[in-house]
Amino acid sequence: MKRISLTQYLVEEQRQHNTIPAELRLLIEVVARACKTISHAVGKGALGEVMGSAETENVQGEVQKKLDIISNDILLEANEWGGHLAAMASEEMETIHLIPNRYPKGEYLLLFDPLDGSSNIDVNVSIGTIFSVLKAPEGMGVPTEQDFLQPGSQQVAAGYAVYGPQTVLVLTTGNGVNCFTLDREMGSWVLTQRNMQIPTETKEFAINASNARHWFPPVTRYVNELLAGDSGPRSSNFNMRWIASMVADVHRILSRGGVFIYPADTRDTKMPGKLRLMYEANPMAFLVEQAGGAATNGAQRILDIQPEKLHQRVPVFLGSKSEVERVTAYHQE
Ligand code: AHG
Ligand code: MN
Ligand code: MN
Repeated sequence: MKRISLTQYLVEEQRQHNTIPAELRLLIEVVARACKTISHAVGKGALGEVMGSAETENVQGEVQKKLDIISNDILLEANEWGGHLAAMASEEMETIHLIPNRYPKGEYLLLFDPLDGSSNIDVNVSIGTIFSVLKAPEGMGVPTEQDFLQPGSQQVAAGYAVYGPQTVLVLTTGNGVNCFTLDREMGSWVLTQRNMQIPTETKEFAINASNARHWFPPVTRYVNELLAGDSGPRSSNFNMRWIASMVADVHRILSRGGVFIYPADTRDTKMPGKLRLMYEANPMAFLVEQAGGAATNGAQRILDIQPEKLHQRVPVFLGSKSEVERVTAYHQE
């Protein structure tokens, strides 16, 4: 079988569809290279200095793991000098990160969740990196947080890496979704799945059911109907999976379908759900839609939300279209 590398894919995609100018290709390749470095660090486990907590908190008040900080540093360092970026933003940094003056600036903005699934690091369960690329607004001076607050529909690229039994990179530039597998011996990303498609129907759902007592009625209704199985209103049995790494749950859904839910609940009205819009929900929503699925916050398309804050949270319902449409419709009733 002829092997197509990430670089070859990006070059050919530009030739055929004109969607990946050289600067964007460089950006994607640098992010992919950083993910390779993170994958290597993850793989060291207890043999490297990567396990356990860092004894610091991020802006969301979460205790940072060593690997959250290591991954953030790897992404910052890799992306600073290439000349393709104007600024970066990350789950692990309170405000945006400007490109240092000694380097040229580019026209793109990069956002990332450097390490998704932090609670799984120390137990050797799949974790990952999520990223989103925006264009800097026309005529932008020194970038500010405001320049990042663009709806997800403006993303020019998005993707994630999963550090699991295999390391994979899943990417969209707005023309379908493709999966690359890291050849660990060669150190190269090889195209292994073209045009990933999420089946419209599914019998699998993902939600952290320990929060059931806090859910709002539409979510309770939807999940109860699934749990009722073939003798309930859906006349069908559904299976449940919850990995607690969004990257891994979304990768399963892109591979074989399913619905993923992290809803808002009654606990804290200032905290609508757990996942962050700009660097978790938006890139995943872009990928899922590009693979024929759907992604909403229960009221509207995630990609249509006008962000108000860099670290804002959002309820997430994404995956197989028929299920996302159903649970979204329950919110309208
Ligand atoms: P992060 O590790 O970047 O903070 O994200 C963790 C997120 C997401 O990956 C996952 O789906 C969810 O948190 C799990 O939350 P629960 O622990 O509430 O199940
Ligand atoms: Mn995350
Ligand atoms: Mn994270």
